[in-house]
Amino acid sequence: MKTCLITGGSGFVGSNFVRHILHKDSDCRVINVDKLTYAGNPANLCDIENDDRYTFVHGDICDPEIIGEIFRNEKPDVVINFAAETHVDRSIGSPDDFIRTDVFGVFTLLEASKQYGVSLFLQVSTDEVYGSIDEGSFQEHDQLLPSSPYSASKAGGDRLAYSYYVTYNLPVIITRASNNYGPNQYPEKLIPLFVTNALENRPLPVYGDGKNVRDWLFVNDHCSAIVFIIKNGENGEVYNVGGSNELMNIEITHSILEHLGKDEELIQYVEDRKGHDFRYSLDCSKLRQLGWEPEHSFPEALAETVDWYKSNEKWWKPIKSGEFRNYYEKHYKLPYANE
Ligand code: NAD
Ligand code: TYD
Repeated sequence: MKTCLITGGSGFVGSNFVRHILHKDSDCRVINVDKLTYAGNPANLCDIENDDRYTFVHGDICDPEIIGEIFRNEKPDVVINFAAETHVDRSIGSPDDFIRTDVFGVFTLLEASKQYGVSLFLQVSTDEVYGSIDEGSFQEHDQLLPSSPYSASKAGGDRLAYSYYVTYNLPVIITRASNNYGPNQYPEKLIPLFVTNALENRPLPVYGDGKNVRDWLFVNDHCSAIVFIIKNGENGEVYNVGGSNELMNIEITHSILEHLGKDEELIQYVEDRKGHDFRYSLDCSKLRQLGWEPEHSFPEALAETVDWYKSNEKWWKPIKSGEFRNYYEKHYKLPYANE
C-alpha cells in the first residue's frame, strides 16, 4: 500500500484532497500533518477521521523533530505539501509566519525527504508566483515576479523545491494552480466571504473598482489535477493548473447575489488592497497536452459551492463569530463596524 504524507490536510484544498485521494485510490494510506492554525479545521475531515487508512498528526512542518519522526515511523512514498499561510491580506499585515511556513517549512520537508528518500515530493505552489499580467497568459518557464509577501514566500518555497531536484536529484514536481473555490474554504477569501456575508445580509466589501481579474478553479478539479500529475508528471517539471474561468471580482459578486436572490445594495466598494495584483492568467496547454482538463463549469460549480455554504451554517457560523471576527474588526473595520 502506498503511503502519502499530506501536509496542511485540515485546510481547504488539503482536506478536499485527502477525501479525494482516499476515495479514488483504495491502495493509498494518508498521513495528514497539520499545525491547525486558524485556517486548519478538524471538522473539515470529520467524515473520514475513522477511516483505517487515515492518520492525523498534529504538528508544524517547520519542526524537524516531528517531521523526522513521521518519516521514520510512516516511511511515506509521496509527499504532497499543501501546508502554508495563504491569505494575501494577512501577509500584508504580518508576513512573519508566511516566510516561516512557506519557505522554512518547505526546507524542513525537503531535508527529511532527502534524508529518508521518497518517490515524489509534490510542492503545491500558486499562479500568484508569476505576479500580475495585463494581457496574455503565463507559461511555466516565464519569470517569477511575485508582489505580495504571500506570493513571494510561495515563490521561495517553489524554487527551493526545484533546487533540491537539480542539486540532490530529489524527485520534485511543482504545481501552480489558480484561485480555488468550493466547500470548506475559510470565509476570509473572496467567494466564501461574500457568500456568507450575503447570507447574513452584511455588506460585500469589494476592493477598489472590482475590476481585478482572477482565474477560478473548482477545488475538485485541482485535486484531480494533482492525482493526474502524480501519475503522469515528470520530475523537475512545473505544471500550471487553471480553470479557464477568468472573471472580474465584480462579476463574481453579482453572480453570488443573483444565486442567493440578494439585493445589489449589499455591494460596498472599499479601499483597495495594497499592491493589489490586477490580473492572474495561466497558459495551461502543457497539462492539457498531457491529458488533463477541468471537469466542472464555473456556473454549476459556483451554484454547488453557494448551496454548500447555505446548507452548512454550522461549519462557518462559529468561525465568523470567533477569531475571524476579532481579526476582521481589527484590520478591516468592515463589514461588522456598525454593530
Ligand atoms: P488554507 O489556509 O485553507 O489551509 C492551510 C493549512 O495549512 C491549514 O490547515 C493550516 O493549519 C496548515 N498549516 C499552516 N501552517 C502550517 C505549519 N507550519 N505546519 C503544518 N500545517 C500548517 O490554504 P488552502 O487554500 O487550502 O491552500 C493550500 C495550499 O494550496 C497552499 O500551499 C496554497 O498556497 C496552495 N494554493 C491554494 C490556492 C487557493 O485558491 N486556495 C490556489 C493555488 C494554490
Ligand atoms: P482572495 O480570495 O483573497 O484571493 P487572492 O488575493 O489570493 O487572489 O481575493 C480574490 C480577489 O478578490 C482579489 O482580487 C481581492 C478581491 N477581494 C475583494 O475585493 N474583497 C475581499 O473582501 C476579498 C477577501 C478579496
